[in-house]
Amino acid sequence: MGARVLSEAGDLLDPIARRVGTPLYVYDADRIRSQHHALSAALAPLRHRLYYSVKANSSIAILGILRKLGAGVDVVSVGEMARAFRAGYRASDIIFSGVGKRPDELEQAVTQHIKLVNVESTAEFDLVRSVAERQECEVRIGIRVNPDVETATHPYTQTGEAGMKFGVPLDEVVRIAERAVPIPSVRLTSIGMHIGSQIFDPSHFGEGAAKLLELVLQLQDMGVDTLEAVDVGGGLGIRYTNETPLDLARYADAIRPLVEGSGLSLAVEPGRFLVGNAGLLLTRCLYRKRSGGKTFVVVDAGMNDLVRPSLYRAVHDVSVVRAGEPGEAGETQVDVVGPVCETGDFLAKDRYLPGATPGALLAVGSAGAYGFTMSSSYNSRPRAAEVLIDGAQWAVIRERESLDDLMRGERTLDQLDAAKAWNRVSGAEMRVS
Ligand code: LLP
Repeated sequence: MGARVLSEAGDLLDPIARRVGTPLYVYDADRIRSQHHALSAALAPLRHRLYYSVKANSSIAILGILRKLGAGVDVVSVGEMARAFRAGYRASDIIFSGVGKRPDELEQAVTQHIKLVNVESTAEFDLVRSVAERQECEVRIGIRVNPDVETATHPYTQTGEAGMKFGVPLDEVVRIAERAVPIPSVRLTSIGMHIGSQIFDPSHFGEGAAKLLELVLQLQDMGVDTLEAVDVGGGLGIRYTNETPLDLARYADAIRPLVEGSGLSLAVEPGRFLVGNAGLLLTRCLYRKRSGGKTFVVVDAGMNDLVRPSLYRAVHDVSVVRAGEPGEAGETQVDVVGPVCETGDFLAKDRYLPGATPGALLAVGSAGAYGFTMSSSYNSRPRAAEVLIDGAQWAVIRERESLDDLMRGERTLDQLDAAKAWNRVSGAEMRVS
């Protein structure tokens, strides 16, 4: 849901915002389905499966929509894995990626017999192997390669260049494969990459895919006969304001040589592409103020609800769903800022927003990906609620956090004393600190 489209939906959104309150994330199930359909159609000539990257939006109802479409999931923690199971995914639908999996997380992955553990270093390979040997079962692994490809995205969302923490360097892959082959408890089934996020130029994927193909052919020549899939990660760029979205046909063309040349099936791990434009963040205007020649619209959503503008200087479309009090003609540019006590707490800068006066309802567009999942309760602000619209019906899929939720697990000093919960500090511990 781009904010522009939604500005026509005030009759729907304003009553929902009044019922559920703001800040509020709202998602459109049909938009997720149409994105899934578009990508599946573009990849149809290639034997493939989509593994939705759960970190983009991990709400269980959203995971449910994608499961019903036949997607698998790409998870990066046991927390995301638990969510996937709760949403009805089976172990064989789950790929476990991530650069820092803990030993207990690998234990779980092996015990559950998930589809694939994507290893990102030789040390992780050794660990997962020892876990599988101890449990006396087979683990299916993939090697996530760092293909050393430059991308033109934000430095914080580049992942595929040499010198970054992600993936196994190209020159180490064969060595890991050689170690894996003779070990019965490890089955090397996939070679993959994830070169970054919000990428528009298909040639970047093509470049990475060419390097993967070279590797796969080398492994096949060496007699590695367990490979089943090549995994090209996610990263498909979407429109936030005026970007030209990634051309799906050209994307498919860029990776086709890898799939056809290797004879393997294709795994893709899209996150943002499936959900980014299917969501928006509704926020209510609290105040309008002027300072030092600038005009600020202070709203009830902040960087704790949507951190992308503060963290990446990401530009999201903002529109007025319902105008507020009459008064401002709107010919001044405004900064839309949140209530958090940080100068970096802004949602948008220098926008013309007629009607953005106290009481107005604003929609921040393209907030379906890395919106709620990156939210926090900084300033002790309970995390927002989430609503899903599905055709002619809507429902709250996550309640707003309560103050009790906010303080769950904490103890007052009196409670600690009463429960005799204090532990003695030993001399050694004292010295360490
Ligand atoms: N696979 C792996 C291994 C990943 O690390 C990621 C994203 C994806 C797939 C999905 O990428 P996507 O299709 O969504 O681009 N917080 C940033 C984005 C960080 C992406 C991290 N990894 C943002 O808000 O732009």
